[in-house]
Amino acid sequence: MGGETGFERIPQSEVDFLGTRPIPAKPYYDPDWFELEREAVFRRTWQCIGHVCELPENGSFIRREVEVLRASLLVVRGKDGEIRAFHNVCTHRGTQLVEEAQGKRTKFSCPYHMWTYGADGALISAPDFDQFHVEKEDCALKQVALEICAGLIFVHLGKDPQPLREWLGPLAEQMETLPVARATTFTEYSYEIDANWKLAYDNFQENYHLRFIHSRSGKPTFSDDNPFGYPAEFGFHGPHRTQQLWSNPEAVSPPYQATAFGLMIPKATEKGLMNTEHGRKYFALFPSFFMLGTPVQHFVHVVYPLSAEKSRGVIRLYWVDEDGDASERYAREAIAVTAHDVHCEDVDVIEAGQRGISSGALDHIHMQTQEALCRHLFNTVEEMVDDYRAETGQ
Ligand code: FES
Ligand SMILES: [Fe+2]
Repeated sequence: MGGETGFERIPQSEVDFLGTRPIPAKPYYDPDWFELEREAVFRRTWQCIGHVCELPENGSFIRREVEVLRASLLVVRGKDGEIRAFHNVCTHRGTQLVEEAQGKRTKFSCPYHMWTYGADGALISAPDFDQFHVEKEDCALKQVALEICAGLIFVHLGKDPQPLREWLGPLAEQMETLPVARATTFTEYSYEIDANWKLAYDNFQENYHLRFIHSRSGKPTFSDDNPFGYPAEFGFHGPHRTQQLWSNPEAVSPPYQATAFGLMIPKATEKGLMNTEHGRKYFALFPSFFMLGTPVQHFVHVVYPLSAEKSRGVIRLYWVDEDGDASERYAREAIAVTAHDVHCEDVDVIEAGQRGISSGALDHIHMQTQEALCRHLFNTVEEMVDDYRAETGQ
């Protein structure tokens, strides 16, 4: 542990606007509340579902499930190079068109009666179409709003979406300076967790647990005057939030970590990835996306809700260019495995939290000043659910 670094905790006065009330526990397990969130939160916001590097060529496609909106999406790069998203639903009688998770095709044929669509979603051919009572032009795949920021693909499944860049505000430009915007490949692992999406996500929005759950792996972030490794700064940007991760100037990383990062720094410098002033920043995009700015460890995590008490997480480490040599290969693997290890330390405690909350023993849970990002998430969700209820009379 380090000595005096001059660290000061963020004062409560900075987050007074979020209030200090206890947080109701029910929204973290109640199925009725979850039903409201589907429409009030997830139908009304942009969801990150992938990265342009997954669609390198015209005809490249990916299928993505957005369970919270019961949607299956087909994302395709068309002949014109444009990336579009469609419902993965044949317009004849609704059969899901594509089963593969990804691939490359110029046409998509429905297995049921062979209606065939182009990469732009238009219906090209349908057997015995003269027997139908509709025009081909009216049978194109249903398109979904798709926009890209920093190479990340976002979709919006609601009505009249606000343009993505307007929704992201100043964060859009900051994210564009990060290596993710230039990523060409990534290492991914996904997981299912028995936890509400907010509880699963909140674990990554507070450092209060690091000292206990990551006592070994998190050690470099603690010092005598910052024994919990709290952040240096919070930022609130509409529904989104950021924090500036604190660096302990006296930190000593375990040797394997020091080696992996040591190998990555010259590579990242060579590729011009270190030229960002947002390298210590943590970007939390509403509702359930976050990303670290770190140029050598470009970590992106999205929590996708499955039900009130179940979520699916996708964690990716994005890389610029294929690994050039054995050292870079080693460093990427070591960084990915370390990230996985740290995450494994979290899973049990998140699920134990869910079991406790789901028991109904608590009416409220509590969030301290340094857990302000968790409070901001809840306040934002609650506000959107309240607005939706008022509009729909539910
Ligand atoms: S449902 Fe797709 S062709 Fe009939
Ligand atoms: Fe953790």
